Amino acid sequence: MADDTTDTKSSNQMWGGRFASGPDAIMEEINASIGFDKKLFAQDIRGSIAHATMLAHQGIISTDDKDKIVHGLNTILSEIEGGNFEFSRQLEDIHMNVEARLATLIGPAAGRLHTARSRNDQVALDFRLWVKEELQKTEQMLTGLIAAFLDRAEEHAESVMPGFTHLQTAQPVTFGHHCMAYVEMFGRDRSRVRHAIEHLDESPIGAAALAGTGYPIDRHMTAKALGFREPTRNSIDTVSDRDFAIEFLSIAAIAGMHLSRLAEEIVIWSTPQFGFVRLSDAFSTGSSIMPQKKNPDAAELVRAKTGRINGSLVALLTIMKGLPLAYSKDMQEDKEQVFDAAESLELAIAAMTGMVRDMTVNTARMKAAAGSGYSTATDLADWLVREAGLPFRDAHHVTGRAVALAESKGCDLAELPLSDLQAIHAAITDKVYDVLTVEASVASRKSFGGTAPSEVRKQIAFWRARN
Ligand code: ARG
Repeated sequence: MADDTTDTKSSNQMWGGRFASGPDAIMEEINASIGFDKKLFAQDIRGSIAHATMLAHQGIISTDDKDKIVHGLNTILSEIEGGNFEFSRQLEDIHMNVEARLATLIGPAAGRLHTARSRNDQVALDFRLWVKEELQKTEQMLTGLIAAFLDRAEEHAESVMPGFTHLQTAQPVTFGHHCMAYVEMFGRDRSRVRHAIEHLDESPIGAAALAGTGYPIDRHMTAKALGFREPTRNSIDTVSDRDFAIEFLSIAAIAGMHLSRLAEEIVIWSTPQFGFVRLSDAFSTGSSIMPQKKNPDAAELVRAKTGRINGSLVALLTIMKGLPLAYSKDMQEDKEQVFDAAESLELAIAAMTGMVRDMTVNTARMKAAAGSGYSTATDLADWLVREAGLPFRDAHHVTGRAVALAESKGCDLAELPLSDLQAIHAAITDKVYDVLTVEASVASRKSFGGTAPSEVRKQIAFWRARN
């Protein structure tokens, strides 16, 4: 950039005392964060009001100045909310945009607001407040998703479907039980969210640039006013720390992985080959060329959003890993990662909640598939152990022979005549047919956490009481 263009710029109004000229255009572009951190305007203003109120309470600024500051900040809040605020890139970030406007509105008193603080503790505060609110929103959204699954689980506590391992038919389970697996997963996500809220519930304001301040501030007062449990305990850590953002992203990545597995199942289940579920029109799209198609686009996009969230987590971990204490400007790159991941996560949870609530479950298809692939073979082996006293390994072997025979005859286990079964093992009686149906199979699995409808109902009741 030619020097003459930059030299004509006025120096920064916040630190112009030390500078003869303004920044190069490229410097301004790489330096500015207002394009994205304007999202923090409400938190910034709340933080400033709490700070100014504390300063006046401590006699550090006059009540008169405090009143002007608070009034001015509230005016700015409504200006921004009403879309009547002009953000300036020259003013770099939300903190300086608000402060500059305050000076225009109230004059010299505005200059007293930044007493005993720095943008380092200010940004740490604003961002923490934002992440805390986002975590609270995530908690509520997860509760909604869990509620959707509980309703479907209740409705389908008895609906039999194939349970899979290696995506090969393994043993019959109920669709209710499968839904409850997701309740467990999203329940863990929600408790991670709650822990993260506890972790970040400390107020950074008053750490100042990094060393604290000589003014007689009351950090407990600002912490309380801003809804934090207590102030942070080390001013250096306070302005260096972005764990709360990384925790948010880690939680989002894990929840995103869960949402993506669910999305993958929905994609598979809604194929004509599986036909286990049909998505509502509201959560699917058609094809511009193939009229018969109904595509699970929302599920596919949820699967893909997980990639963005993982990218954000890795980006912020990488941004932070080489930084010496305390604040470095690198940390300004924290916000876009978190904002993008938060938007992706919110959309993914909302789309999944809608899909789960709306999808039609084809219980007949599920039941037919549950019986194929010799899914009750383990039940035959268990019957031989229980009724004929065989060791499980021998029973496994006998059952394997029965499966091979059924396969060669092209029939199900339950369709083999008794004489065939007795030829394989003489102790088999016609009572065995009672356990070879898929319903009998699931009903028998009453172990704690098992797939029997009676067990699934207990788990639903447990989660309903917690949700
Ligand atoms: N815009 C900055 C950020 O987002 C605010 C803190 C700037 N502090 C500083 N010493 N330059 O991190």
